[in-house]
Amino acid sequence: MMVELAFPGTRSTGDNHAEDSLHWSMHSFHAATSSHCHRVGRIASLITRQLGLSDAEVHSIARAARLHDIGKMDVPNHLLLKTGKLTADERAMMDCHPELGVARIARLIDDPTMIAVIGCHHEQWDGCGYPRGLAGEEIPLPARIVAVADVYDALREKRSYKSAYSHAEALAYLVDASGTKFDPAVVDAFVAVSRRATRIIAKIYP
Ligand SMILES: [Fe+2]
Repeated sequence: MMVELAFPGTRSTGDNHAEDSLHWSMHSFHAATSSHCHRVGRIASLITRQLGLSDAEVHSIARAARLHDIGKMDVPNHLLLKTGKLTADERAMMDCHPELGVARIARLIDDPTMIAVIGCHHEQWDGCGYPRGLAGEEIPLPARIVAVADVYDALREKRSYKSAYSHAEALAYLVDASGTKFDPAVVDAFVAVSRRATRIIAKIYP
């Protein structure tokens, strides 16, 4: 699998200790974001396996998914803690988190898949995402996978402004946005694997 996207100024040393310490930092900074990232890693693994990618790719995408929102550590804390709707300015600040995450990770970890996932998990298949407005296969596949897992998890969670969706409701949302927000092949893979992995999914979302 080629991960072809490079962000300017990326540099890395390939250090697992750095990765571990980032997990700890994220957990102590905001435990809910850290838990979200871990669940997204588990869902992304199911999808990646269903797509027929290798064990190494499954592992690599899961690792990247577990840090995909690391850039939120560089967003003002009160935004993460805010229970009401974000203002337009606050939303703009929050939407910087993919680039902030790339800036933080690229100094520490040599992993193009991780850079691609962190930087592109809010891009959309139709080009209406952010930060770059990439479309279709311009978006690296690992980021297209994590985008589906990310939204699925966000829907399943109860948040201050919405109740938790059931699995069927969240799946219906993804299917509805297949081909617009999401890569249809990735949505199809999740639909297929979720029929077989009902017990695993029920454990992740008790
Ligand atoms: Fe995000």
